[in-house]
Amino acid sequence: MQNRPSDPRVSILKDISPLLTSVLDTDSVLEMIIESVTRLMEAKASSLLLVDKSRKKLYFQVATGEAKEEVKKFEIELGQGIAGHVALTGKPLLVPDVSKDSRWDSTISEATGFETQSIACVPIKSKQEVIGVIQIIDREDGQPIREADMEILSHFSELSSVAIERARNYKDIVNENIYLKKELESRYEIIGVSKAIEQVIADAVKVANSKTTTLITGESGTGKELVARLIHKIGPRRKKKLMVVNCAAFTDTLLESELFGHEKGSFTGAISRKTGVLEIADGGTLFMDEVAEMSPSMQVKLLRVIQEGTFNRVGSPSPMQVDIRVIAATNKNLFEEVKRGTFREDLYYRLNVVHIYIPPLRERRDDILVLAQHFLDKYRSIRGAANLAFDPNTLEVMQNYHWPGNVRELENAIERAVVMGGGEHVVRPEDLPFSATPSGDTAQELLGCSLKEALDSFKRDFLQRNLDHQGGSVKDTAKILGIQRTYLSRLISKYGLNTRRNR
Ligand SMILES: Nc1ncnc2c1ncn2[C@@H]1O[C@H](COP(=O)(O)OP(=O)(O)OP(=O)(O)O)[C@@H](O)[C@H]1O
Ligand SMILES: [Mg+2]
Repeated sequence: MQNRPSDPRVSILKDISPLLTSVLDTDSVLEMIIESVTRLMEAKASSLLLVDKSRKKLYFQVATGEAKEEVKKFEIELGQGIAGHVALTGKPLLVPDVSKDSRWDSTISEATGFETQSIACVPIKSKQEVIGVIQIIDREDGQPIREADMEILSHFSELSSVAIERARNYKDIVNENIYLKKELESRYEIIGVSKAIEQVIADAVKVANSKTTTLITGESGTGKELVARLIHKIGPRRKKKLMVVNCAAFTDTLLESELFGHEKGSFTGAISRKTGVLEIADGGTLFMDEVAEMSPSMQVKLLRVIQEGTFNRVGSPSPMQVDIRVIAATNKNLFEEVKRGTFREDLYYRLNVVHIYIPPLRERRDDILVLAQHFLDKYRSIRGAANLAFDPNTLEVMQNYHWPGNVRELENAIERAVVMGGGEHVVRPEDLPFSATPSGDTAQELLGCSLKEALDSFKRDFLQRNLDHQGGSVKDTAKILGIQRTYLSRLISKYGLNTRRNR
């Protein structure tokens, strides 16, 4: 066994290797590799070629030597010349005299006027696959490249694979981050044209500049969290964190330690010290979702945070001070909870300094189609169908539906219709979940609607089904229903129903 490297250059190489693998820009890594290899090998010229897998070609990524600029214009077929041969076989190759080797291709040498005597090539591999080749041409002292040089070259090829892989992974991560950031930003865009949503946005903008505690209410899926994020994003605290805590997701003990943190050993399971959300959000915003679900003892502690900005870590006697803006949300009627005695009145008034109410989607019908189009734009790229559009009937169905799950239901319905839908270029009514499966329990689905809305919804559905059953004939349907034809016609245009004629 050999304890010392056979070539002193190997230890120099080991010294520069950490440097090489710490550079994360692919182009710089490749340049550094070739510069070091040229210096260490005292080579006349060297180059690094990369494999273009789809075109089955090798191209010069980096080159040194007199002809380095011209060389970069060339591409080599896999299998062509010495480098092409090495890329194809994946094995290193030393050719001391190219004129005696049938694999030698003199095209580049002749075109650039660069005389070549000896060549050494080693493959660069990543996960068993050849991704490139390092090529050395002649030594500066005029001697041919020797077998002993191959060891150094092999070390270089290993180092190069690691460096390239790291740099490429890093690039992927950077790209992914850019993508995620864009994605996140677009997630906080509030879409809507109705008066109601414009009022919500205007109020959010107004409160954003202050520290005023704000209560956001509205049914599930109306966009409460979106509005909270908007307030944080456009206000002076935007550079600090917004922390979201869903009060319903924790037991009392866990919620307390989540918010305030705990000292090691303060309760069973507290195996180490934990920083609470309040400390992390210091200077920023705390969004307390489903605030009505808090226990009475936690309500007292939250009140203290809002009033004094102080709290105690679980298990710690000394209070901590933070600067936090609190935004709370609930889909319950908090005042009702106060009357029932489950929510503290003082906390209610503290939270309710500014109240933003987001009406359900069925009460701001102007937003339905704009939102639908927004979600279609968002999801159609997933299906790779850039031209996917709504069928006019689909628009009508969406416009008239009562959306018990609000914007979240609309978004889910469109995502599903885009991904699962059968229409080639259009989203059809039957692609919508509620249109495809006729309502099982209508009364249940209509919970939360006013009686008028429920009746309208029933009438629309009932009339359409009868019309369909009669093949769209207004005359026959009117007879079955026992109403005047003219009255049915009025209902048809009121509800935008389909008949034989307008189908
Ligand atoms: N006006 C809007 N524009 C664009 N997207 C919206 C809008 N309103 C809601 N959404 C989207 O609908 C989904 C539900 O919104 P969000 O989570 O803010 O609702 P929520 O009121 O907090 O619901 P829950 O009460 O269930 O927590 C999210 O994906 C959100 O991005
Ligand atoms: Mg929410």
